Amino acid sequence: MHTRQLGKDGPQVSAIGLGCMGMTDFYTTGSDTREAVATLHRALELGINLLDSADMYGPHTNEELIGQAIRGKRDQVFLASKFGIVRDPANPAARGVNGRPEYIRQSIEGSLKRLGVETLDLYYQHRMDPSVAIEETVGAMADLVKAGKVRYLGLSEASVATLERAHKVHPISALQSEYSLWSRDPEDNGCLAACQRLGIAFVPYSPLGRGFLTGALKSPDDFAADDYRRLSPRFQGDNFAKNLLLVEQVQALAAAKGVTAGQLALAWVLAQGDYLIPIPGTKQRKYLEQNVAALEVKLSPSELAALEAIFPASAVAGQRYAEESMKQLNR
Ligand SMILES: NC(=O)c1ccc[n+]([C@@H]2O[C@H](COP(=O)([O-])OP(=O)(O)OC[C@H]3O[C@@H](n4cnc5c(N)ncnc54)[C@H](OP(=O)(O)O)[C@@H]3O)[C@@H](O)[C@H]2O)c1
Repeated sequence: MHTRQLGKDGPQVSAIGLGCMGMTDFYTTGSDTREAVATLHRALELGINLLDSADMYGPHTNEELIGQAIRGKRDQVFLASKFGIVRDPANPAARGVNGRPEYIRQSIEGSLKRLGVETLDLYYQHRMDPSVAIEETVGAMADLVKAGKVRYLGLSEASVATLERAHKVHPISALQSEYSLWSRDPEDNGCLAACQRLGIAFVPYSPLGRGFLTGALKSPDDFAADDYRRLSPRFQGDNFAKNLLLVEQVQALAAAKGVTAGQLALAWVLAQGDYLIPIPGTKQRKYLEQNVAALEVKLSPSELAALEAIFPASAVAGQRYAEESMKQLNR
């Protein structure tokens, strides 16, 4: 397995991780718990050690599933989880945020228990809490490192200014934000450059565009009724149809190269720099194996340019989140 370093002072981890979110939540189309567990085990066999979860996936069921699957295999895993997005059981679509120290101290105990471990390898703040100074939040996270409950710290969807402030309180090892051919914000908002400058790993989430960039999704009507993508503007109505025309161009490039569109999309992310560690998500072994094989796909400068040309920001139809969730991004 190829490896990459998690920030300048962090360990080597597999060059791609496994995003586990869809195993118990969000991408409910085709849910199959047994296959999800088999996928986790296959990932470890293939040498993928970076597993990505969050307490809000489920909520809680994702960490529970991973905890069961890795029992007796703790030494093979680099476990990442997150706190800070608060779900409302009465309204599954609603999202709150909480970055208060007492909430963090309580959240880590729940995550450790569900995952069945004494120490979490990487703990992210999932979304910034505008009512709490980042110094206060990261100070509380740093206390967890001192207490031996967490090894490395990360932020998700933080701005450059927030990242810089946080990094002064305690080294931040990873910034996890959406980045893919059709979500290019980190290029424009300075996050990629800041990570490179500060020696922080950039962990692109949804590197396959929530599955869209693989070309496997043909119609929004194919999603299960509670599949999260039904709420995402890019997956709705005319937007879906317009974006499909772009993906068909990626598929044509992929066919000419003898690879899949998903492999091309992952190879493009991997080619942006060694400090990027994408975490493609899947609950199926066949997809996992295709995604791991993307590590062997090398792109020429002209292939990179051709891919970028297909997806300038102006070409993508629809925002990456619904309006309420866009407001929770720290920009
Ligand atoms: N920090 C955050 O705010 C945040 C937000 C979103 C996600 N994440 C993390 O990032 C991880 C990855 O992102 P993601 O899961 O949202 O999106 P993704 O990796 O872009 O795409 C996942 C989707 O693509 C499908 N897929 C995967 N490999 C495929 C292949 N080779 N061919 C065809 N389809 C394929 C999966 O299908 P199946 O489900 O059928 O396997 C799944 O529906 C998540 O699991 C989660 O851990 C973090």
